[in-house]
Formats: sequence, C-alpha cells, structure tokens
Amino acid sequence: MEQQIKTIEQEVNTFSILSKDDLENFRLKFISKKGIIPSLFEDLKKASSDEKKKIGKWLNELKQLAEGKFKSAQEALENSMDESTDAIDLSLPVVPNKLGNQHPLSLTRYRIIEIFERLGFNLADGPEIEDDWHNFTALNFPPNHPAREMQDTFFIEKNPDVLLRTHTSNVQIRLMKKQKPPIRSIMPGRVYRNEAISARAHCFFHQVEGLYVDKNVGFADLKQTLYSFAQQMYGKDIKIRYRPSFFPFTEPSAEIDISCLICKGKGCNICKHSGWVEIAGSGMVHPNVLRNCNIDPEEYTGFAFGMGIERVTQLLFQVNDLRLYSENDIRFLRQFKPVM
Ligand code: PHE
Repeated sequence: MEQQIKTIEQEVNTFSILSKDDLENFRLKFISKKGIIPSLFEDLKKASSDEKKKIGKWLNELKQLAEGKFKSAQEALENSMDESTDAIDLSLPVVPNKLGNQHPLSLTRYRIIEIFERLGFNLADGPEIEDDWHNFTALNFPPNHPAREMQDTFFIEKNPDVLLRTHTSNVQIRLMKKQKPPIRSIMPGRVYRNEAISARAHCFFHQVEGLYVDKNVGFADLKQTLYSFAQQMYGKDIKIRYRPSFFPFTEPSAEIDISCLICKGKGCNICKHSGWVEIAGSGMVHPNVLRNCNIDPEEYTGFAFGMGIERVTQLLFQVNDLRLYSENDIRFLRQFKPVM
C-alpha cells in the first residue's frame, strides 16, 4: 500500500485546481465518501494490527494533505470571486515542483567521460544520420561483405545509401579526415540497429568509442588504457581479459571481458555462469582505415575500442531489462544517484 499512497500523494500535490469544477472534481476523486482516500481507509481494516499503525499514520497524513489543499483552494477561489478586479493573488502558495535527477545512462556517460578525460582523451561528436561511406566503407567493410550483416541497419534512403549509424565508429573516420595525429578522443553517442525489442536488445542504444592514433601506439597501450578504465569504473580488484575477435576496421581485434561484479567470478545469471562479462570490442586500427583517411600506416598506428553504455550501467546498477531505460517511468528513474 505504501507505493499506492505515495502515488496518490503525488496526484494530490499535482492536481491543479483553477475553477469551481476542478474543486468539485478534486473533492469527488479524493475526499468524498466514494473517493480514493475513504476507500483506502476501508482497505486498512483488512490489514494486520502492526500494519494498521504504520499505514494508518500515512493515510491520516494523506487525508490531511488532501483536505488542506481542498480548503485553501476553496478559500482562494472564493476570494478571487469576491474581488471585482482580476488581480493575481501573489500570496497563494505554489504547488511545489519536485526536483528531477539525471537519467542513469547520463550518469554512466558522464562517469566514463570523466575517467577518459583523466587519461588524456578529449570528446568528439558526429551525426546519427550517416552515409554508407562513414558507417561502413571507410571502416573497411567491403561492399556486400557479410560483416555488414553483423549490424542490422535502418536505411533511410537507398542508392546512395543514407542510414542511421549502427555504431559510433563513424566519428573515428570524421575525426581522422579532419585532424592529423596525434588523436586521442572518445566519442559517446546514440546508435541504431534493426532488432526486435526485448530485455536484452533494443532498436537503439548508446556507445562510447575511443580512438588513439599516434607514432608507436601499440597493443600494450590499448590493454593498459582499458585496464585502467575498468579499475576506475569498477574498483581496483577487477580482472580483465582479452578474447580474439573480428571487426573489419581493426586488426588484430579483441573482445574485452571483465570479471563478473555480481558473483565475483563464481558464476551467476548475469555472466551466464562463466564468471566473465563482455564490456567492449577493441583492436588496432586496420591500415586500410588509416589509408582511407589519408593517414600513412607506415608512420602512424592506433587503437580503437567501443563499449555499450547500457551494459556498463547494467553492471553498475544491476538493471536487468534494457527497456526500462526508455520507458520514462519515474519510479525507475528516481532511484539513481551518482556513484563515486
Ligand atoms: N564498432 C564496434 C561495434 O559497434 C565496436 C568496436 C569499436 C570494436 C572500435 C573495435 C573497435 O560493435
């Protein structure tokens, strides 16, 4: 009942009473014999005596709140009708505005940015509506190659193709075209894939991609950078492992796993009883990608990585259903505070 009382309390607080009709509707809804509050008192009769005490107190407070609001609104309406002028009564109490809080995905994004900024990365951004070249071709996806099917794409136009970017890697290309190395940037943003929506997949989600291109950048730099990130994000006891993988735009490529935070590596549902959870894709930037951006692969090397913000958030806050992030349910959103 606690949740129900809270919801009704919020409804009482936000119900706007500007006319006599509003006032009567308010009375009927909350305080009249058939209203919500008297019916809650009826329900209370069924509760155990312990609960009666606790819930009874809340209910009485709710009743007072509603009656108080009714009275002051009634007086305010009468006063305003008595006066022949239509002057505004500045002494009327305002309905208090509830303070909002940041979305969990924003909290995580800010935290990721903060950590990489400390490691010397700056921020870059790019468009969500992209052409085929920046999303695929420049990233070394050959035409008609099955790798394109790894990422189910929403096309906006065909011939020439315009699409919703399937990853933030398009920003790598835009950066390298625009700027000569050294480049050390992270690129957070929204990406889209044509997938059926479920607890584990959505048609849009968020990524942070990182790119470091300079003379003598090696795989060891990639490993240490991401290890340092994982320690700052999840604590210094975190373990990290690299699994060989494939992306057209990196060679060699690796999938990065961290030890499961939920079961500490013993095995649970989140890590599918393996003790490890995948958090990012990564690798050394493919020479073809550098060439496509007019950077000489004999002179420069680089690493790139990409991680899903939803996944990082899931591990921080243990949210098990992706859909919750975009349903705008205040009861869900209110629960998140910055974790430091
Ligand atoms: N773009 C890849 C994806 O969305 C992730 C990735 C980024 C992998 C950079 C390697 C390097 O799946």
